[in-house]
Amino acid sequence: MLSYQHIYHAGNLADVQKHLWLITVLDYLTQKDKPFLWIDTHAGRGLYDLSAPEAQKIKEYESGILKFYKDWQGNDNLPAPLTRYRDFINNLNKDELIKYPGSAYLAMKIMRPTDKLYAFDLHKGEFPHLQKTLQQYINSDPRFEDGFMGLKSLIPHTTLKRGGALIDPSYEVKEEYTQTAQAIIEAHKKWPQGIYMAWYPILDKGHHEDLVNQLMALGLPDEDFTIDEWHFGEVERGMKGTGMVIINPPYGSIDTMAKIKLYLNQ
Ligand SMILES: C[S@@+](CC[C@H](N)C(=O)[O-])C[C@H]1O[C@@H](n2cnc3c(N)ncnc32)[C@H](O)[C@@H]1O
Repeated sequence: MLSYQHIYHAGNLADVQKHLWLITVLDYLTQKDKPFLWIDTHAGRGLYDLSAPEAQKIKEYESGILKFYKDWQGNDNLPAPLTRYRDFINNLNKDELIKYPGSAYLAMKIMRPTDKLYAFDLHKGEFPHLQKTLQQYINSDPRFEDGFMGLKSLIPHTTLKRGGALIDPSYEVKEEYTQTAQAIIEAHKKWPQGIYMAWYPILDKGHHEDLVNQLMALGLPDEDFTIDEWHFGEVERGMKGTGMVIINPPYGSIDTMAKIKLYLNQ
């Protein structure tokens, strides 16, 4: 029985980092005409209401998206992915930041009708929200199934040769760090050209090091493997920071995200 609900954390700094990477990678994939496959193994609701009591409980978005969002308005000199991110959020809101886009929503906004999204969530309260978020997109396939198994079963795809996956577990149990690493190692064997992006929390206990070390043991060259960590000034709710590991990062994406990190002073 899963208890984690992302609405308590939506729009926090981890979401900002993760969603900026997602936009950067998906925008790159749309530069070529050939359709692509995207797999969101842990999709959540796809869209979050920050005025809901759950989001209001800890208000994590205040030290995340809300910290930057107002300064981005009317700014024509933002790095490209920030402009995209701001505009996706603006399109959901009027004067106040209330609706926040999740990974599956952002993917569908960027992907073209010829591309295909598979979005998994195994929480029975969350899945109906995900279905609702994706209902108007006929090229999306929300599934109430285990995302790790889903990834394994969908690749290599028979027709879509380009694309990748976002693996964004809640890490409710520490086994998920190894499970994430092993799922990526297995997927990379089956589909070596796929782009794999995994998010992880940087904790005092250092569990994320197992995940990172197992993936580093793949021995991939620097241009095919990158780690991006944003460290918080102080420990927030047991988290020291937020991390992403990306296998096969698109050309230019490492530099783009490094500039964004500097711009956001992270
Ligand atoms: C961190 S949240 C996802 C947030 C989302 N990716 C975003 O960026 O908007 C993790 C989600 O994974 C779901 N989940 C947990 N274990 C799962 C599994 N084995 N397969 C699919 N979904 C799972 C949880 O219900 C939760 O909604």
